Amino acid sequence: MTTPSSSSSRFARALPAPTTPLLLLAVVLLALTFFALFASDLKLQSPLATCSKGAATAAAADKHLGDASAAAEPAVDLRILLGVLTRAETYERRALLRLAYSLQPPPRRAVVDVRFVVCRLEREEDAVLVALEIVAHGDVVVLNCTENMDGGKTYDYFSAVPRLFAAAPYDYVGKTDDDTYYRTAALADALRPKPRRDVYHGFLTPCHLNVEWEYMSGMGYVVSWDVAAWIASPAAAAELRGDHEGPEDAVFARWLRRGGRGRNKFGEEPRMYDYLDREMGEGVECFRHELVADTVAVHKLKDRLKWARTLRFFNATSGLRPSEMYHIDLLQG
Ligand SMILES: *[C@@H]1O[C@H](CO)[C@@H](O)[C@H](O)[C@H]1NC(C)=O
Ligand SMILES: *[C@@H]1O[C@H](CO)[C@@H](O)[C@H](O)[C@H]1NC(C)=O
Repeated sequence: MTTPSSSSSRFARALPAPTTPLLLLAVVLLALTFFALFASDLKLQSPLATCSKGAATAAAADKHLGDASAAAEPAVDLRILLGVLTRAETYERRALLRLAYSLQPPPRRAVVDVRFVVCRLEREEDAVLVALEIVAHGDVVVLNCTENMDGGKTYDYFSAVPRLFAAAPYDYVGKTDDDTYYRTAALADALRPKPRRDVYHGFLTPCHLNVEWEYMSGMGYVVSWDVAAWIASPAAAAELRGDHEGPEDAVFARWLRRGGRGRNKFGEEPRMYDYLDREMGEGVECFRHELVADTVAVHKLKDRLKWARTLRFFNATSGLRPSEMYHIDLLQG
């Protein structure tokens, strides 16, 4: 990249004995050069600005597409918030998820904002290290709760979202865990034709029974904004008081039944499922099978190897360019 001084001095050398109009032209060109540099500075900052607002996935998409093509993208008609309920100390998993989500092909005409949701930071190191993540990535939500698996964090999350995001409501609000991998483009495409109200989407459990108490598995579920708004309402707070504990996914469904909400139920099986590979010595079930191309979400990614195989299957490594700098033979086979 040429600096302003080198380009202007080259320009000056090329000039014959300068006349007034030529000098004027030089000044205009110089001004344009500075303007171009200044404008490109602004552009360089824009992904970070998006990121600090928290749109990690959108920022990643911007980086890959460049601003020009991003501007040419068709208008967004669907916005989804996906909260990954996790704990402060799971730094490695969060780093992996952030990487995995940022490398996904961006959804078309949709925004899927992935946010990591943790409770109050109780330890000195978490306060500092999570603060650093927020500065760098802007994708963490810290709720005023104490960490618990089945003690009401899901309620805290859904009831906080309508207030936290009141300025820019989403069409849908989802909850997932840090052992689930959603494919955000597939999720957006699955939700696009569905109603925007009274929706409850996920993996309908138990998948082999037709029971009145069925619920969307905690691997991941999504409700329309109105349902989240109802959970956050004072009426629901009164109705659901004392009913926050227990397996969060089944409890969540009980809330919706009590409130008569989420009646547009959409089970996404078999595109949502538990991970299975041949080495696991387990069989195919209605909730478990091997990876398939049109996956919306895969669950039970409990260790690095399962994540690695899953990300490889979905071609996350295909962006790796040949280089003298590395030889990763295991990726060839
Ligand atoms: C968090 O919740 C606790 C207990 O409910 C309350 O005392 C405290 O004021 C809350 N903190 C904030 C920042 O809202
Ligand atoms: C991954 O890429 C290969 C080669 O382009 C393609 O055949 C395959 O369908 C892709 N897999 C998925 C899950 O999209």
